[in-house]
Parts: sequence; C-alpha cells; structure tokens
Amino acid sequence: MKDNNGVRYTLNLRDTYMNNNVVIIGTQWGDEGKGKIVDWLTSYAKAVVRFQGGHNAGHTLVVDGKKTILRLIPSGILHENVICYIANGVVVSPEALLEEIAELEKHGISFCGRLHLSYAAPIILPSHVALDQAREHVLGIHKIGTTGRGIGPTYEDKVARRGLRLVDLLDINTLTEKVTTLVNYHNFLLEHYYQVKPIALKDILSTAMEWSQQLSPLITDVSHCVRTHQDKNEPVLFEGAQGSLLDIDHGTYPYVTSSSTTISSVFSGVGIGPSQVDTVLGIMKAYTTRVGSGPFPSELHDETAEYLAKQGHEFGSNTKRLRRCGWLDIVFIKKAIQLNSISCFCLTKLDVLDGLSHINLVIDYQIKSMLSLDMEEPIYDILPGWESNTAGIRDWAALPLNTKSYIEKIESLIGVPITMISTGPDRADLIIRKNPFQS
Ligand code: GDP
Ligand code: IMO
Ligand code: MG
Repeated sequence: MKDNNGVRYTLNLRDTYMNNNVVIIGTQWGDEGKGKIVDWLTSYAKAVVRFQGGHNAGHTLVVDGKKTILRLIPSGILHENVICYIANGVVVSPEALLEEIAELEKHGISFCGRLHLSYAAPIILPSHVALDQAREHVLGIHKIGTTGRGIGPTYEDKVARRGLRLVDLLDINTLTEKVTTLVNYHNFLLEHYYQVKPIALKDILSTAMEWSQQLSPLITDVSHCVRTHQDKNEPVLFEGAQGSLLDIDHGTYPYVTSSSTTISSVFSGVGIGPSQVDTVLGIMKAYTTRVGSGPFPSELHDETAEYLAKQGHEFGSNTKRLRRCGWLDIVFIKKAIQLNSISCFCLTKLDVLDGLSHINLVIDYQIKSMLSLDMEEPIYDILPGWESNTAGIRDWAALPLNTKSYIEKIESLIGVPITMISTGPDRADLIIRKNPFQS
C-alpha cells in the first residue's frame, strides 16, 4: 500500500509507537544540510545532543528567511523549550563557544538552563589552533585542508591522555598547572619542530580563568542527563557533524577529520548504548560536495560544477571556502548505509538540480577497490532532468514526474526509503513522507 506521499508501508501495531531516539548522520563529505533537518525535527524533541566534532562544523538554519549558522551549539537552540547538550565526544573551544553564545543572545536567543556541557569534553586551546595551522603549512600541497580550528591536535591530546577537559575548569587551584604543562609542550613543538612563534602562556592562563568563571555553571554529567530523558520516554535528537566519508577510520584517510563521524560515536561520544537508538536518519545531498583536499571520483570540473556551486550556494558556512561539486555517488551512499545502519534518508537540495537537462548517478566503479580512489573511474547512470522547478515544493504529489523517478531510482539502488525531501534552505521547504520520530 502507498500513502499520499508515495511511501510504501505496511500497517502493523508498531505504527502507533514513537521512535524516541533519532540520530542524524551526514552520509557524504559533510554539508549535506544536517542543520536544517535537525532544526525542523527539534519540534518533536525534548533534547538535542551534539556528540562529536567541534566548531569545524557549520550548520545553517533558515527560518522565515533569517539565516543562523551554528558551529558548536546544537541546531535545536532556536526552539525555546528544548534542552541542548554538548556531549563528551565533542571537542570544545571555550573561546568559540562563548562567542557563539554571545552572538545568538544578541539575536534574542535565551540560554537560561538550556545549554549543558559534558565535564568530559576535551578543551581546544589557542595552542591547538596554532599546531593545526603549522602542520598544514608544513604539508604544503599535500595539506588536508583542515578548517584550522585545532580539531586534530585536540583529539590527539585526548587519545594521548594529556589533554584538558571541561571538568578541569571547575578547579581553579589546579587549572594553572595543567594549562601550563600542556601549553609548554605545545610551545616546544611549535618552536623547535615547526619553527614558528610560540603562544603566550600568560594570555592563555588569564583567559582560562575567565572560561572557568563563565562556563562552570554549564558543566555537568551529560550522559546521565540524556539517560534521564530516555528513562522518561522523552524524544531525543542526536546531531551528527561532518559526514561518513570524513570518518577517521572509514573515510578517505588521511583527508578526513579527526573524529568518528559515523554511528559509533553516538555511543562513545554521549555514553549510551546501541539499544538506546531507535532510528538513524541519513542526510544525503542530491549531488556531492567536498571542502578541502582528497579524492572525489565524481567531481566535475565543467559548467555543471559551476551551476551546482552557484545554485546551491556551495561555499563553506564555516570557512567560506568554495566547495568542490560532483554527482551523487550511490556506491558511497551504500557504504554509509552499512557503516551507520541507516534506517531512512532525507534527500536535500533537490531544487539545486532544477534546470539541468540530465543528472548522473555513480552506480559502480571500473575497478572495485576503494583503496585508491584517485585511480577510480566511476560508472554513471544518466537520468533525464525535469520539466519544471521543485524549489519550495512541500507535497510529494506536486513534484514533476521525472523528479519522482529520480528519487525512486535512488531508493531502488540503495534499498533504504527516502522519507524526507528538502526543496529549499528554509525550515518549511520540506516534503515529509514519514516523520522519523514515528515508527
Ligand atoms: P550541514 O553542515 O550539513 O548542516 O550543511 P550546511 O549548513 O553547511 O550547508 C547546507 C547549505 O545548504 C546551507 O546553506 C543551507 O541553508 C542550504 N540548504 C539546506 N537544505 C537545502 C535545500 O533543500 N535546498 C537548498 N537550495 N539549500 C539548502
Ligand atoms: P559539517 O558539520 C565539510 C573537513 C575539512 C577538511 C577535513 C579536516 O558542517 O558538515 P578538520 O578541521 O576537521 O581537521 O578538517 O574535514 N570538514 C568538513 N567539511 N563539513 C564539515 O562539517 C566539516 N568539518 C570538517 O574541510 O577537509
Ligand atoms: Mg556545514
């Protein structure tokens, strides 16, 4: 049977149940439109939790034409009654966080009792940023193209068990010594290995005292708080950052970020178990983009690339860099499904394909080894474009026939339903075939 949005479904008793725990995961190289979808879904949630990454993320929300870009703060913050958490898997720059809070407060957003930070989240210091930038400089043409925000060096210090965590801000008696030890180590590397200027320790020490004052009231046991929501059967949304192909283990290494961007990081990055997740909603852009270096087999270098970049405003919401553009890669999407156990998809930026005479899909590769992607020659399926625009359409029935065929073709190739379709940047530009909070 098909409902009025064209989704196949079978009626059973579970249709009346809620999925209380929904995870949002990017399935490409980031910037799939996760922020918009988290913002929309937040009206069904009690809490929104960021579980990995840091302020390398840039999540854009557009509500009634007004744009908000969030880097660290969960994309649920625009909904007054929702509680936002930054969990232990996130690396936190106190400087960037305080700036983001101040910026949002200027726009009338209240944080009173609504933002909580995990005591176990690693702290990004200015010396991590300096190390990130020094390393990129040394790599020259082989640079990763990081966001330069100190993400990699902070995760390194976490794993090396020498990093600072937010809990360290709670004890000002030991804070000075801990910051001094770490910054001295960073400065040794900066001066003697990278041969650049060290960071002034005394400046970091005085700002660390300010961070302690300002952030201490927000620091708590986020894992316990999330568990409490779950015990009360309150719906929780888990907001992923980056995308599966940027995953430290499963992505296009070394051109990846330094965290796990796949489902596993929800468990380690919040402190919950697999049975506490009900639905994994994958976010898939109708084409592919990538910021920074690294392989990208379906990348375009012609006027279609320019068209996609222009129509999709494909420049970074965080670093303002131009995003590389290419066709949707079904092989990678299938990999993301396997890595994340994706239950359903939201297809975003469909409207960006409006006006193209044909649309390509990567359905396979000539050589079936994903080990040397640079050498890979994609095999394309070529589909016709559509006769009228999809921008702003909010009803499945109103989509052009060729657009429906495009979506159904993707569904048949990946074997997972596309239950939400985004047709514009605004919160309301969405076709909901099935809400992921409903089973
Ligand atoms: P995120 O990092 O995954 O949250 O995505 P970004 O916010 O970095 O990039 C997505 C960009 O596309 C933002 O500028 C959004 O406003 C915009 N966007 C999201 N969904 C749509 C859509 O369906 N159509 C169009 N045209 N733009 C969209
Ligand atoms: P959202 O959440 C797109 C990319 C960087 C670089 C690589 C490593 O907005 O989708 P890092 O600073 O993390 O060490 O950089 O990862 N990158 C992103 N690309 N969207 C993001 O986040 C990204 N976060 C990191 O461009 O190639
Ligand atoms: Mg982004």
